Amino acid sequence: MSLVQEINKRKTFGIIAHPDAGKTTLTEKLLLFGGAIQEAGAVKSNKIKKGATSDFMEIERQRGISVATSVLAFEYKGKKINILDTPGHKDFAEDTFRTLTAVDSAIVVIDVAKGVEEQTIKLVEVCRMRKIPMLVFINKMDREGKDAFDLMDEVEQKLGLSVTPLSWPIGIGATFKGIYNIWEKNINIFSGDNKQKVSETTQIEDLQSPDLDTLIGSDYADNLRTELDLVNGVYPDFDQDEYMSGNLQPVFFGSALNNFGVRELLNAFVDIAPTPQAKETDLRVVEPYENKFSGFVFKIHANMDPKHRDRLAFVKIVSGKFERNTNYFHVRQGKSMKFASPNAFFADKKEVIDESFAGDIIGLHDTGNFRIGDTLTAGEKFTFKGIPAFSPEHFRYINNADPMKAKQLEKGIDQLMDEGVAQLFTMEMNNRKIIGTVGALQYEVIQYRLEHEYSAKVNYEPFSVHKACWVEVEDDNSEEFKEFKRVKQRYLARDKYNQLVFLADSAFTIQMTQDKFPSIKLHFVSEF
Ligand code: G4P
Repeated sequence: MSLVQEINKRKTFGIIAHPDAGKTTLTEKLLLFGGAIQEAGAVKSNKIKKGATSDFMEIERQRGISVATSVLAFEYKGKKINILDTPGHKDFAEDTFRTLTAVDSAIVVIDVAKGVEEQTIKLVEVCRMRKIPMLVFINKMDREGKDAFDLMDEVEQKLGLSVTPLSWPIGIGATFKGIYNIWEKNINIFSGDNKQKVSETTQIEDLQSPDLDTLIGSDYADNLRTELDLVNGVYPDFDQDEYMSGNLQPVFFGSALNNFGVRELLNAFVDIAPTPQAKETDLRVVEPYENKFSGFVFKIHANMDPKHRDRLAFVKIVSGKFERNTNYFHVRQGKSMKFASPNAFFADKKEVIDESFAGDIIGLHDTGNFRIGDTLTAGEKFTFKGIPAFSPEHFRYINNADPMKAKQLEKGIDQLMDEGVAQLFTMEMNNRKIIGTVGALQYEVIQYRLEHEYSAKVNYEPFSVHKACWVEVEDDNSEEFKEFKRVKQRYLARDKYNQLVFLADSAFTIQMTQDKFPSIKLHFVSEF
């Protein structure tokens, strides 16, 4: 197969959802279609179970599972589909944001009863900002829930999306009869008694045909005709270009648990979802079909064995072909590296591979060379853009509680930050270290891992910060900037890349600061 054929086979996406909407269940059904797993229950849920004995022990357990579910690949209709795992728990939101830098499209899962929820809003916003094409799957149609039209309104309003249904439900909950597949013009009748097998569909080319009445009864048939008329009148026709540019989101209905409506979703996905896309660098745009390999690190996973500090760096291949035992260029470190045992991921295992193509994710064993956002190339010196850090939500001073272990602590913090567990800021004024996290849970994780993996002890001190603002200045010799640095010196810090950050204590402070220093721009993300 040629390079272009290999690349065009690939579809790499992430499923985003609020916890409990059915992401794990849907993933599992998709894998069943691909024949990648044999039975339901094979995909372990990586979510934090309610009532877990201890949150951070639970997270430790999760780390094991999450290596296994980081990338789930399967083949379907001649395509190679890579599903990237995206934690739904809000304390891991940053992980999910970063994973979204490596997907070419996304499926948004929504619970029909709960509608659009908080985490969905945040994650869809990230996809919207990046113009990632999205499909929407309304799940749990076997349960009572919101009216389909109301839900479409909610999706448009709360998520800022522009939708067009490609399937439509017939009834809901106790009266759920099935779905009409607008994309393929057929009906799938819901029986609800076989969760493994996929039911047959009946082709209905003409909705006026009496076959429809025979199939679902005249009342349901009439109702469906009326609703589909309305759908036709209200929503735009599906348009591939609009979908690809992130301006139109097709919607599907179904029940993941009952494996119902999933085939419709998957078939449409295979038809319309994007193949690997071009990506911007600081020099130029890199096209997937370029002969030379390039890729970037979007996730780093520490090994579960604390005695061996080896890690797995997840690399999204952006262009060309990656080969085992070949020299590649680590741009940030300016050095050449080769990899003897790169891993590829399948639904139920990871394996050492000889080659891999644009669109794929590979896992590289690492002893501390990689950091999230790093670029690997075949020699060219460019760095991929669009892998920013976001402002953390929580901030605390971190103190060394065992002065004999200062070196271990420094190394530990450095490596945990490279992994992206949290962000480190160093105060300009006195070099004190601040740890910023998305969720309060991470503080326990850091403390625990520093102690168990690096024999270092720490404690924390509160530090009241509302947001970290990355500072952009037009002229760093200007009087205004000097004045800004003088007035704000107690709140200025450097991030890991030595970028200047203003730690603002309130939204009001940010506003005031912007008003007072108009030539200085404050950003909530590290890339601008
Ligand atoms: P998540 O990964 O998005 O967090 O959700 P997950 O798939 O774990 O699903 C959350 C709960 O919703 C699970 O029940 C799951 O069985 C249920 N579920 C998923 N899809 C459907 C559906 O189409 N219909 C119905 N009725 N339920 C669905 P649970 O009781 O929380 O977990 P479990 O003990 O069954 O695993």
